[in-house]
Amino acid sequence: MNVTVPFKLDAQAFADQLTMRAQLAGAVNTLWIQDGKIYGDNTDGAGLVRDLLAQGIALHTARILLIGAGGAARGVIGPLLEQSPKCLVIANRSPEKANELVQIFAGLASSKEAALESRSLLDLESPEKTPYSFDLVINATAAGLSDQSPLSPAALINIFTPSSFAYDMVYGKTTAFMQQALQRGARISDGLGMLVEQAADAFLLWRGAELAQSIRPRAVLAQLRS
Ligand code: ATR
Repeated sequence: MNVTVPFKLDAQAFADQLTMRAQLAGAVNTLWIQDGKIYGDNTDGAGLVRDLLAQGIALHTARILLIGAGGAARGVIGPLLEQSPKCLVIANRSPEKANELVQIFAGLASSKEAALESRSLLDLESPEKTPYSFDLVINATAAGLSDQSPLSPAALINIFTPSSFAYDMVYGKTTAFMQQALQRGARISDGLGMLVEQAADAFLLWRGAELAQSIRPRAVLAQLRS
């Protein structure tokens, strides 16, 4: 079973046994039964990373800004850090939640030599508190669902350059966040590729590598887009 919002925490509680990445993500999107036990995994982060790499986004030594500190953000921090970015900054409206995530992932970050830091959304407006722009900005907040953006005009100027890539986990529309990034000359993507890639990883878990190899996620994505 593949589970989506708002049931990922229920799915985690439902599982008898969690994979390491599901424990770290704090949520489950993939369930299966094996030897009478219910297993829970989280393929969201791996799906995001594969979609970014397929779109030609280099993550190794990249400066990454992750906006949001809820379940969607938490699920992708581990896989992003595994790519050894130069830094991963987690910015959230309520900064204490971003601080908590920094503490949870500090060990993994230091083993990957990635600087892991937290900010408030206000900090993003200040060139003193946020002194450099980002190669990749990921919107993992729920703001896009209600046609809002977490970013103020002042933050936009500070964090984007035309070589930035803006990724919104929401799919099916050009969100306010994506429109802001376009105004700054950045390239954009919605989260449809992440949806397809996380499903491909779930299929791999259920059906094994041989069958999974016959599914071509990028072809599925192209079909969905058309
Ligand atoms: P999800 O599981 O989808 O991540 P969540 O756990 O409720 O949902 O988290 C929602 C995230 O979106 C949070 O980071 C939230 O910020 P707060 O922690 O400060 O509440 C963020 N969010 C929601 N609406 C927002 C808005 N209009 N502007 C900025 N951030 C917003």
